[in-house]
Amino acid sequence: MCGIIGYIGSKNVAPLLFNGLKRLEYRGYDSAGVVVSQDGFHIKKDIGKVDEINQKLNLLDISGTSGIAHTRWATHGGVTKDNAHPHMDCEEKITVVHNGIIENYQELKRNLVTAGHRFKGQTDTEVIPHLIEEIMKRGRNFSDSTTAALKSLEGSYAILAMNKNERKIIAARKGSPLVLGVSDTGHFAASDIPAFLEHTKTIVYMNDYDVAELTDNSFRVFNLLENREVQRKIDSVDWDIKQAERGDFQHFMLKEISEQVETIQKAIQQDKKILDDVIQSIRNAHGVFLVGSGTSYHACLEASYVLSKVNRMHVNVVLASEFPNYEHFLTSKSLVIAVSQSGETADVLEAVKSAKTKGSKVISLVNVIGSSLTRTSDAFLSLNAGPEICVLATKSYTSQVALLSLMSYALSGKYDEGKKKLTYLWNEVYHLTSLSVREKIKELAEKLQDKDHLFLIGRGLQYATALEAALKIKEVSYIHAEAFAGGELKHGTMALIEKGTPCIVFVSEENEKEILSNAIEVKSRGGYIIGISPKNNEIFDFWIKVPEVHNENPIVQIIPIQILAYQLAVLKGLDPDRPRNLAKSVTVK
Ligand code: AGP
Repeated sequence: MCGIIGYIGSKNVAPLLFNGLKRLEYRGYDSAGVVVSQDGFHIKKDIGKVDEINQKLNLLDISGTSGIAHTRWATHGGVTKDNAHPHMDCEEKITVVHNGIIENYQELKRNLVTAGHRFKGQTDTEVIPHLIEEIMKRGRNFSDSTTAALKSLEGSYAILAMNKNERKIIAARKGSPLVLGVSDTGHFAASDIPAFLEHTKTIVYMNDYDVAELTDNSFRVFNLLENREVQRKIDSVDWDIKQAERGDFQHFMLKEISEQVETIQKAIQQDKKILDDVIQSIRNAHGVFLVGSGTSYHACLEASYVLSKVNRMHVNVVLASEFPNYEHFLTSKSLVIAVSQSGETADVLEAVKSAKTKGSKVISLVNVIGSSLTRTSDAFLSLNAGPEICVLATKSYTSQVALLSLMSYALSGKYDEGKKKLTYLWNEVYHLTSLSVREKIKELAEKLQDKDHLFLIGRGLQYATALEAALKIKEVSYIHAEAFAGGELKHGTMALIEKGTPCIVFVSEENEKEILSNAIEVKSRGGYIIGISPKNNEIFDFWIKVPEVHNENPIVQIIPIQILAYQLAVLKGLDPDRPRNLAKSVTVK
């Protein structure tokens, strides 16, 4: 998804914008641009990576102390220079960058073209500067015209806008993330905190329909729904910029896999009062829905097995994008537990919105505090995983599973026991992320790197693990990996097994006999069996030892596959942090 950053203050803005774009790269993009306001607009933009564009156009060689910048993940309009942001109006006195989708842009564009406006690109965003220009022609000032333009937009937006004749940045959000940074040299606005974290940890989370006006030494916020100026809390984050940097690691993915030694422990450090309130909400609910997308959905699936086995609780696990097909029997007694790393996944936000229209309670498990999901939930628990920069979810997944496991223990009145068991995992995760284990897994990666297809099987908790493992491998190595419940293979997919077909088998004490018999079915048809298992077995052609930690197996059993996926990508010369076609936060439906 797109990334935006702006700054106005006393410092030279070009390096702030350039470094900000670099820190937003993880959001996924295909073009980028900056504009500095200094006696007019100085725009530099192109397709490609930020470093490539800088090589070509020297993004740092623009003097000025206010500007806005953008990384574009193409939605409307191809990947072209004209479609890269920033966009301008006809007279080039208004400039805008935008993240989101303007759903009524075609109608707006038709009216603007009829009024004589000339467009250079095919994006939805380009209607915004022209709309502001058209309204200003009727005598209204820049701020009022921008506000009026925003009111006519349908869909989602996080925008930064500038007028070359006024020294201010207008920042506005509706359905897309935008946060302000307050520093002693000036003010920032960005899609995500890492974009300006090295300059300030003082932040202001914006609400939907907020419109902020930033000047060198002040900012004020107006809310379009409340139709009045509002006070937004000046907050701070305890993140350290090093968490948003690779440090000694070659890639964020390996860094974040390694951080799991600590992040799993941080996930279970919860405010006991808030946790108890969440547990009480679960107990009081008539119908609990666990909702998530992608990896977060897999964490929900893991939790559903544990809640069934440990708490004798039936919960509905629903893909966020499928939620509209399930919401019919939601009531004011229902509880939706939304799980999301970014807190900005459009499908999850849509599910939560529809749940709230039914009067259901919404509790969320989120990593990015201040995200849309934390602001629309009745309560939330933080994953405490720190910024997750790699597009792939690794540490956030094990934090989700650990926190959901703690909730299950707390539900059955065994909070202390659960906390002790999860704390014990420190040693196991430390070993699993060690160099010696990584070297062993690299041997497997070398055997699999040229494979086109790979199957994974598991039962119960290990079925959810197999699904998550398949996603990790697909996302970053582009090898087709497909996961099945162990008992399902014979219902069709076995037809695909040939000599040498690799099949990863997740084994635990509770399902050892059954899943090994499924593995033998694959082996007898020529399959190459990789065992993720506490014990070796003669049917394994390759064995990766994992500890038997029962309900916490999903945490320890996914780590070797995270490492395998990473090593497959590196062996294949791919960028593990920025896989093709993907974005860190899917903020469009
Ligand atoms: C995970 O590796 C993927 N990047 C993706 O499936 C992700 O889990 C999904 O988009 C949900 O994101 P969220 O947790 O931020 O809501």
